[in-house]
Amino acid sequence: MGTCGLASGAQATFDTFRSEALKYKLDIEIIPVGCVGSCFLEPIVDIKLPGKARVAYKQITSDKVVEIIQRTLQKEEIIREWVLGKYPVEPSSSDEDFSDIPLISDFEFFKNQKKFVLSRCGVVNPRSFEEYIAYEDGFKALAEVLEEANPQKVIDDIKTSGLRGRGGGGFPTGQKWQFCRDAQSPDGQKYVICNADEGDPGAFMDRAVLESDPFSVIEGMIIMGYAIGASKGIIYCRAEYPIAIKQLTNAISICSERGLLGKNILNSGFNFEIEIKKGAGAFVCGEETALIESIEGKRGMPRIKPPYPATYGLYGNPTNINNVETIAQIAKILNYGPAKFAEWGINKSRGTKVFSLTGKIKHAGLVEVPMGITIREIVKIGGGIPNGKKFKAAQIGGPSGGCIPAHLINTPIDYEELKEVGAMMGSGGLVIMDESTCMVDTARFFMKFIQEESCGKCIPCREGTRRLLEILTKLTQKPKNDYEVVDRMKSMISLKELAYVIKDTALCGLGNSAPNPVLTTLNYFRDEYEAHLYENRCPAKACIGLLSFRIDAEKCVGCGLCKLNCPNDAILGEKKQAHYIVEEKCVKCGLCKSNCKFNAVILE
Ligand SMILES: Cc1cc2nc3c(=O)[nH]c(=O)nc-3n(C[C@H](O)[C@H](O)[C@H](O)COP(=O)(O)O)c2cc1C
Ligand code: SF4
Ligand code: SF4
Repeated sequence: MGTCGLASGAQATFDTFRSEALKYKLDIEIIPVGCVGSCFLEPIVDIKLPGKARVAYKQITSDKVVEIIQRTLQKEEIIREWVLGKYPVEPSSSDEDFSDIPLISDFEFFKNQKKFVLSRCGVVNPRSFEEYIAYEDGFKALAEVLEEANPQKVIDDIKTSGLRGRGGGGFPTGQKWQFCRDAQSPDGQKYVICNADEGDPGAFMDRAVLESDPFSVIEGMIIMGYAIGASKGIIYCRAEYPIAIKQLTNAISICSERGLLGKNILNSGFNFEIEIKKGAGAFVCGEETALIESIEGKRGMPRIKPPYPATYGLYGNPTNINNVETIAQIAKILNYGPAKFAEWGINKSRGTKVFSLTGKIKHAGLVEVPMGITIREIVKIGGGIPNGKKFKAAQIGGPSGGCIPAHLINTPIDYEELKEVGAMMGSGGLVIMDESTCMVDTARFFMKFIQEESCGKCIPCREGTRRLLEILTKLTQKPKNDYEVVDRMKSMISLKELAYVIKDTALCGLGNSAPNPVLTTLNYFRDEYEAHLYENRCPAKACIGLLSFRIDAEKCVGCGLCKLNCPNDAILGEKKQAHYIVEEKCVKCGLCKSNCKFNAVILE
C-alpha cells in the first residue's frame, strides 16, 4: 500500500479484511497494491468476483469491511453508492461485464489523464514479479534490448522518442546517455544513478512510482546501464521514503534471484548490479553533483560544472543521472514504440508529465497528463477550486518555480512555454492558489524553504536568500516605528536587483532559481506588494502580521472564554459585558477567535 492510502487508513481496512475473512471462512486473496493517484478517494478497495469484472470501491474505511463481505463477497451484490468504477474486461476474457457501472477511466478525475508512467500504479501488486511481467509486458523491453545487442540503437530510440528529463532541467535524455556512452573512463567503470531524492515540498510523484511500480525503475536502470556501458547502478532515495525503499529492496532481490541483475544477465554477457543509497533529506542533495558528493560520503554540496557528471561523475568516472519518472518510462517507450511516443505532446515536450496536484483544489492527488494540456485543464481534472472561490495562481516547478496568474491559466504544459512566463516545468509540484492566498506570503514561504535548504557553499545564495527572506518577512508585518517604515521602503527598492544578482551568480540550480517565486509574484501581483508596503494591508487577509483581532461588541455576550484562553492577558472585560482586545498586548495567536462560540472575534 502507498503512503497516501496508509495515511487514509488503508492498513486498518486491510487488516480488517484479513481478520473478517478468517471469521467468515472466506476463500479469498487479499492483495495490497500501490496508489492510483486519487488521494481524496483513499482507501480504495478493488473487488474481483470470480467470472466478473474488477470493480473499485472508494473511501473504504475499516467500518465498511463487514458490509462488503456480507453483501458483495457473499451475495455478489455491488454496493452502488461506494462504486468508483470498473476496470475494462479483456477481450480474451469471458468475465461478465457490469454494463451499468462506468469505467474507472471515465471518472471525472481520470477522464482527461493519460496514464503511461503510472499505468501499473494501484493496479498491480508492487511486490509481485509475475504481475509485473503479466501486466503490460514487464521485462520484455530488456529481453529484446539484450537480444538485439545494439546499445547504440537503444540510445537512438530514446533520442527518437524526444524524451526529456523529468527531474527539473528537461535535458534530452538520449543526448545525455550519448555523452556518457562516448565518455572515456580511466578504469573502464561507468555508473548510472536514479535520482529519487524528491525534495520539493508537496511533491510525491516519484514516491508513488517507487512504491507502486518499483520493477519499472529497475528495468529502466538495467537498460540505461546497458546502453551506456555501465555495470553499476545506484538508487539515491531519501530515507524519509521507507515504503519506497522496502519495495525497491524487494524488487532488487527478486531480480537478482531471477538472473535479471548480477552477472551475465539473460545469458547476454552483460553484468549489472543495483545498490540503494539512502539520503538524509537535504533538498540540495537532489542536485546531481551534490548527490554524487553525498554518495561518495562527503557533505552534500554541489560541484562547479563543467565538468558534468557524464564525463566526471561518481568517483571521477563517467556517470549518467536520471530522475525516477524519466527512468520508469524507458521500457514502456521501447515497448510502445519511440516514434509513436513522440507523437504525444507539443513542440519539444513529448509524452506525458506526472504532477502532484495540491493546494486550493477540490481533488488533490497525482495526475498524469499529456504534454501540451493547459493549466486550466489540469485544474478541471482536480475538480476546480473549492468553496466557490476563484482561481488566483498556480505555483509550478516547486520552490524554484514560478507563480502563474489567472490571466495565463491557458499556458500549456511545455518546457519552453512555462519558462517564457517565468515558471518552469520542474519535477511536477503543482500548487493551486485561490483568492485567499497572499502572493507576498507565498513568495516568503518558498524563500524560507530555500534559505533553510541553501548549502551555504556560495555567498550569493547563502547570504542573498537570507536578505530576500528578511525583506519579504518585513513586508508581511506591520512596521513598529518610522525607522522600520523607511527600512521597508529601501528594501523593497533593492528586492528585484538582489533577486537578479542571486539568479546570475549563484553556483548551482538551487540558487539560480531561488528568486523565481519572488520575481513572478512581483511581476504579476505588484499591486499586492504595494498594498503591503504602502498601506500595511494584505488584500487576501492572509498575513496575520498585518491584521488585528477585534471583538464585535454587538455579538459579544461576555462569556469570558476568550479572556480565559488568551496567553498574554490581552483581553479586558467584565462577565456578561462586551469584551475588548488591547492590540499592543495581542500576540496574534488566534486563540480568542477559535474559542469564541458567538463569532464575535473578527480578524481585519
Ligand atoms: C536544488 C536542486 C534539487 C534537485 N532535486 C532533484 C530531485 O529531487 N530529483 C531529481 O530527479 N532531480 C532533481 N534535480 C535535478 C538534478 O540535478 C538532475 O538534473 C536530474 O536528476 C537529472 O535527471 P533527468 O534528466 O531525468 O531530469 C534538482 C536540481 C536542483 C538544482
Ligand atoms: S547556490 Fe546555494 S545551494 Fe547551490 S552551491 Fe551555492 S549556496 Fe549551495
Ligand atoms: S469568547 Fe466571544 S462572546 Fe465570549 S467574551 Fe470573548 S468575544 Fe465575547
